[in-house]
Amino acid sequence: MKIELRYFTGTGNSLKVLKTCDILFAESGNSTNIFKISKDETMFPDSDLIGFCFPVYAFGIPRICKKYLQGIERFKKRQKAFILITAGDLDESGFAIKECKRILRKKNCEVIYSEIIEMPISWTTSPKPPFPPSKEDALEIIMKAVIKTQEIAKDIVNGIEKHHRFNYPKRYSKIKFYLDYLVFKYFGIQNMWRLFNVYDTCNGCQLCARICPTNSIRVVDKNPVWSSTCEQCMRCVNFCPTESIYQSQGGDTKGKSKYREPSFKPRGR
Ligand SMILES: Cc1cc2nc3c(=O)[nH]c(=O)nc-3n(C[C@H](O)[C@H](O)[C@H](O)COP(=O)(O)O)c2cc1C
Ligand code: SF4
Ligand code: SF4
Repeated sequence: MKIELRYFTGTGNSLKVLKTCDILFAESGNSTNIFKISKDETMFPDSDLIGFCFPVYAFGIPRICKKYLQGIERFKKRQKAFILITAGDLDESGFAIKECKRILRKKNCEVIYSEIIEMPISWTTSPKPPFPPSKEDALEIIMKAVIKTQEIAKDIVNGIEKHHRFNYPKRYSKIKFYLDYLVFKYFGIQNMWRLFNVYDTCNGCQLCARICPTNSIRVVDKNPVWSSTCEQCMRCVNFCPTESIYQSQGGDTKGKSKYREPSFKPRGR
């Protein structure tokens, strides 16, 4: 089979999952291409299967992923696709898969497989726990995720179809769930960049600006300045060499574990 693979990632989790698929697909004799999503990609090379892997941020996929899927031209022939979503909690993926399926259906895509993979939580500035795990705990979660992903990749190669079923998170009432989802989607994400700030340990090194996957940081007079294209992916927070980035209104990061998938080497846009 010819398989095209596309991902968006903040801290490397979604890339790790898709790379794991990529390795297994290649070992099974398939030819693959793996790229991060780009708004310039509106058409795909001819392929038997396309696989997408995105993270869930506050019960939905990042805006940039939605825009990317919406920007794809409708396939002339019915196109098979699979969707994998990485989440900090298997129970809390919310509408992520539904959002992808709704858009892909309009593009003449037949989603043959969809699943959630639990990976370490990356939301360091979350106002309340759970926060990112320690390095040791993160490694254990990643190991389990890799094993699960290998099984998924085998299923896909063997033509097994499977669909994740939507669930309401047990930790939330239905009202709280909808409220959090809608508030983040329509008010939160557009504005949360305004909450970013730095402790006085920031040395103006500009790494945050260089690695941001949405190009949302400029460094002016050695001070990082955030902008509204930010997806809250937490890459800047978790990679800052002096651990200087935090968010006001409860997003303190002092003393918290910083998380990045250990093999991930970000390059920005
Ligand atoms: C702003 C933000 C919101 C998040 N919201 C959720 C959520 O609603 N449910 C969940 O299970 N995990 C949530 N997470 C955890 C991420 O989905 C998880 O860590 C994911 O694997 C990150 O993938 P990435 O490194 O590819 O960005 C959130 C993380 C961030 C940064
Ligand atoms: S990476 Fe950290 S230390 Fe460097 S400019 Fe950004 S916030 Fe400051
Ligand atoms: S500014 Fe930080 S949190 Fe926002 S998209 Fe860039 S790296 Fe991610």
